[in-house]
Amino acid sequence: MPGSPHLKFNYFAGRKLHLGVCGSVAAFKTLELLRVWKTLGITVSVTLTAAAREFVTPLSYLSLGASKVYGEMLDGDDVFAHLEPGRLADAMAILPATASAVSRLAAGDASEMLSAQALACDRPKLIAPAMHPRMWLNPATQANCKLLRERGFHVVEPAFGRTACGEEGQGRLADIREIYLATLRMLAPADLAGRTLLITAGPTREFWDGVRFVSNPSFGLMGAALAVAAWLRGAEVKAVCGPGTPWLPAGIERINVESAAEMLAACQNFWPSCSLGCFTAAVCDYRPLEQGAEKLKKEWLGDSPVLRLTNNPDIAAALGRLKTEAQHSIVFAAETSNIRQNAIKKLASKNADMVVANMVGKPGVGFESESNQVTIIRKNGEATELPMSGKADVAWRIWDVFLNP
Ligand code: C5P
Repeated sequence: MPGSPHLKFNYFAGRKLHLGVCGSVAAFKTLELLRVWKTLGITVSVTLTAAAREFVTPLSYLSLGASKVYGEMLDGDDVFAHLEPGRLADAMAILPATASAVSRLAAGDASEMLSAQALACDRPKLIAPAMHPRMWLNPATQANCKLLRERGFHVVEPAFGRTACGEEGQGRLADIREIYLATLRMLAPADLAGRTLLITAGPTREFWDGVRFVSNPSFGLMGAALAVAAWLRGAEVKAVCGPGTPWLPAGIERINVESAAEMLAACQNFWPSCSLGCFTAAVCDYRPLEQGAEKLKKEWLGDSPVLRLTNNPDIAAALGRLKTEAQHSIVFAAETSNIRQNAIKKLASKNADMVVANMVGKPGVGFESESNQVTIIRKNGEATELPMSGKADVAWRIWDVFLNP
């Protein structure tokens, strides 16, 4: 769902988006997007093309909180309605963009309301095309999209799969989470642009036989929120994810790993090309000394078997040792007491620039929780306490603190 906790950033409250809907069976998906944009406090105005009104009605959008639904050009007495989104909106999203809508946009056509509004809008614009795969692959559509890209449109490409007519190929409207985030990216500050972030997220699993492992309850929500927030703000992001880490947009390079050893290897591979490291993963500190590929039978193990553990590598510390002058790192600390003293020790032991400490055990904080409350401490001892809020908001504020000491 686009409204998953790692994607719910309150930063966008008060921003204005204009949504253009075209005539496609996927038009109903814009209603879910409208609902989620509204939960972020975004004001959404809407234009339905004549064909779109055959699939969805203005009333549906007004019922879900659209600020205005525009009709056709020359309908009613609002003679400048075609100029309004260009004056009022911060960005414009057109979806599902049919082949004819893409063609009208590329041609600069102004013969109907939606394309006239797009022509009169010089804010960031996005299209998410949806059409039959042969129409999508047709050189005419491809050339139109290329032209629109060159003119600054963001194009969220259609997804592969079965289309409404029962054929297979690329043509389905993209995952609405991708469209949702692409619209937020248009509205976000690009203050992390130019940085390449390596982030670790989620737990690790340390197997002691073919099917059993040692792990912890982390599910990677904080790391996923930080990865998405950084990507929305313009960073290139490489995420090394333990099992269960939530969905991330395709724009983030994601590597799934299981054990700490695999996580370390993936991180070592990425680190030389990154300028920033953020280590949120709940890496298991120990792994079983013996690991077999087979399931060990209870008859072999006997009663009360003893599991012998050995130390896992400390990924944040290992990369901290390799850190150059041009690289920065942020580590996390889960504490049950003496947050500050322990956090300062962690800065030194991991050669980090910033530590984000949370008091685990407090209700609503840490593992398995959708909210968090953290204290951020820098190398010079300066501390910033953030209020308790959703993890996506905490992530957004962590990047604010990182950027604005
Ligand atoms: O030492 P401690 O586990 O408390 O440190 C937590 C920080 O170190 C977190 O940022 C965590 O992601 C990172 N860490 C790591 N590799 C480990 C253990 C912790 O990267 N083996």
